[in-house]
Amino acid sequence: MKALVINGPNLNMLGIREPDIYGRETYETLVTLCKDAAADLGFEAIEVYQSNHEGDIVDKIQSALGAYDGIVINPAAYTHTSVAILDALKAVAIPAVEVHISAVETRESFRQVSYAGMACFATITGEGLAGYAHALELLYAKLSA
Ligand code: DQA
Repeated sequence: MKALVINGPNLNMLGIREPDIYGRETYETLVTLCKDAAADLGFEAIEVYQSNHEGDIVDKIQSALGAYDGIVINPAAYTHTSVAILDALKAVAIPAVEVHISAVETRESFRQVSYAGMACFATITGEGLAGYAHALELLYAKLSA
C-alpha cells in the first residue's frame, strides 16, 4: 500500500507562521512524523509533497493515479477556494482523507467551506500535526477493509 501526503500553500512555513495557531514544529518535523507513522502502520511507501501552487497540486493529484493507493491532503487555503483540487480528487477517485492542523470549524467564516473535503471520506481538524498520523491511520484502515 502506498500513500501520498499533499500539503498546500504556506505549510512549508510551519514553525514560523502563526505559531499560536499552527504550533512551533517545523515542516521537516511534519515530514518525519508522516514517514514514521506510515512505516508503523505498514504502508510500503509514502511521499510527502508540498506546493504553494494550485496547478501543481492538481498535477500531483493526477499523477497519483496508478501510483498511490490513498491520499492524505491538507490543501491549506485552497481548501476554501479550489474547485480544481476538488475536481482532481474526484477525477482520480483515490480514497482521500482531509486534514487540518487547526480547528477550522471554530475560525473565520470563510474557513467553514471545504471544497476538497467533498471528495474525502474523512476529515480531521484541530489535532495539530498528530492529525496527519490519525489521517494515515484512517486511510490504512479504509484500504485494508
Ligand atoms: C489549514 C487551515 C486553513 O484555513 C489555512 O488556510 C491553512 C492551514 C490548517 O491546517 O489548519 O493554511 O489548512
